[in-house]
Amino acid sequence: MIAEEKIIEIRERASIVEVISDHLTLKKAGRNYLGLCPFHTEKTPSFTVNEEKGIFHCFGCGVGGNVFHFLMRYEHLTFPEAIERVGKRYGIVVDRQQRPEARREAEEREALYRVNERAAAYFHQALFAQAEGRTALAYLKSRGIDEGVARRFYLGYAPRRGTGLAGFLKREGLSLDNAVRLGLVSERGNHDYGERFSDRLIFPIVSSAGRVVGFGGRVLGEGLPKYLNSPETPLFRKGSNVYGLYQAKEAIRAADRVAVVEGYLDVIALAQFGIGYTVATLGTALTPEHVRILGRFTRNIIALFDGDEAGRKAAARSFEIFIDAGQLGRAAFVPKDEDPDSFVRARGKEAMEVVLDQATPLADYAFSWLENRYGTSLEGKSEVAKEIQRLLSKVRNPFEADLLARRAVDSLGISEDLLRRSAASLGRRGNEPEPKKPAPPALRSREDLAERALLGLILRYPSMVSLLAPVEDIETLCASHWRDMMGRILTEWRASGEIDPGRLTQSFPPDQAAEIAALMLEGEDVPEEEREKALSDCVAHLRRKYLRNLETELRRAIRIAEETNDEKAKRERMLEWQEVVRRERQLDRQRLAAKTHSP
Ligand code: CTP
Ligand code: MN
Repeated sequence: MIAEEKIIEIRERASIVEVISDHLTLKKAGRNYLGLCPFHTEKTPSFTVNEEKGIFHCFGCGVGGNVFHFLMRYEHLTFPEAIERVGKRYGIVVDRQQRPEARREAEEREALYRVNERAAAYFHQALFAQAEGRTALAYLKSRGIDEGVARRFYLGYAPRRGTGLAGFLKREGLSLDNAVRLGLVSERGNHDYGERFSDRLIFPIVSSAGRVVGFGGRVLGEGLPKYLNSPETPLFRKGSNVYGLYQAKEAIRAADRVAVVEGYLDVIALAQFGIGYTVATLGTALTPEHVRILGRFTRNIIALFDGDEAGRKAAARSFEIFIDAGQLGRAAFVPKDEDPDSFVRARGKEAMEVVLDQATPLADYAFSWLENRYGTSLEGKSEVAKEIQRLLSKVRNPFEADLLARRAVDSLGISEDLLRRSAASLGRRGNEPEPKKPAPPALRSREDLAERALLGLILRYPSMVSLLAPVEDIETLCASHWRDMMGRILTEWRASGEIDPGRLTQSFPPDQAAEIAALMLEGEDVPEEEREKALSDCVAHLRRKYLRNLETELRRAIRIAEETNDEKAKRERMLEWQEVVRRERQLDRQRLAAKTHSP
């Protein structure tokens, strides 16, 4: 926890232009500064920074927010780390006032990391500096792994079972209890410790922040189990760590893509051959959490599978994992009977890159897998349509969903009609309300033109809030995605009589902060004399939309009441419906009057 005043002090002191200029070149253009966006590839600058408001926004890819958001994204920092970083640049010391339990927890974790890090050093030096490491070095050589890459991945060797590691940790004054918690050793009897890894090549698993969270160990040559990994510990969960991310970070950013493979040795081989943007899952299937972690670095995630039947099936399955994490994902395949390691060694870097360049959307594999499973009979198609609809209903971005629907229609010969019908049957079972989708990302906002226009007006011309404040139900009128934002802007204005972009962007999660930054910076200047009219047009539009939706809902309710012979409900809904229709007419009349009166 960092004190609120401290955050404000730092934000106000910092120049967003200065901080961003530490990382890229900005040029002044009118009221803003412009540069090439570091978060997507572009040739003409659309990355916009506004010093006065303290925000940035890229018109190309939609990222945006305040100075902290920039560093969180660019340097992959957490929020407190970003605050500290900016504080440091301006000589403001941040002391995190932690609750005692939180501090104790952090200290405990730190002690665990320390044990892992010393163990990694022990293994590493056993590989390179000790006689016992010779067989392991020879094994590396036989696999074609050169010393440079072995050092870069901090590979190690766990000597044949003894008490070497336990003794070493003890001499370093570290807690063996912690070593037990980390699964490095186990206590066999009174102060007698056995080691988990014996005569194995060691792959330290490093978090994206560069901390050693666990280990994988491979037998030298044949033997079972081939790999032994750290157990799940407070520092290590397989489903939420990927191998090689720390070493791959820069390359991922530079290439704006990441290849996900299966094996430690695949990562190492590809890195050695100059494809540094590679990571591996840890002997588990890909999880949405993996995808989310990688999504912080690029939206271009390529899962690289084996070219056999199992590989295709894995590709088909991972589609849902990707959409659960808000991504689409692509798949590439190495030829049958090869893995990325053997392939890159046999065919070289360029051939591997060609394979990656040819990656195709996972959706294609998911769709054709469904077709294989259900067949192309009428019934089969209807099953496929249902299943696709189920998948697409998880895609939060409506444009992507639309694109995928069209892809399904084109590639499977399912009629759009069938797809839509299964959508309808999915969307509303009986008289259950339609399921609320989670707040969609920025793109979806194109649907909500009026909300955007309205928020844009009051964010750019804050004094206009006073015109909006009397519209008591304005929040209700906004589509759910914007309701909260509208509500908080009004609350902030009522409380302080102003709208502070810095504070506002901060009170929202990064996605919404980016939307606010976009709304503040995009759009043409509206001449002063037209603003009021623009605002009331937006409100009227929202109100009409709201009434229209209400009317549809009521009609549906009336029909249900009729079907269930619920006379009372029917009567009540009818009255409500008449009232809604009356209000709609009234609005129409007002609009007509406004038209005939204006020149
Ligand atoms: N794995 C595991 N436990 C096993 C087997 C495999 O955790 N018993 C994980 C490891 O992370 C391994 C990955 O699954 O890297 C892929 O397994 P595999 O293809 O068998 O190993 P490779 O990394 O290709 O190693 P090698 O080339 O030496 O066979
Ligand atoms: Mn392999």
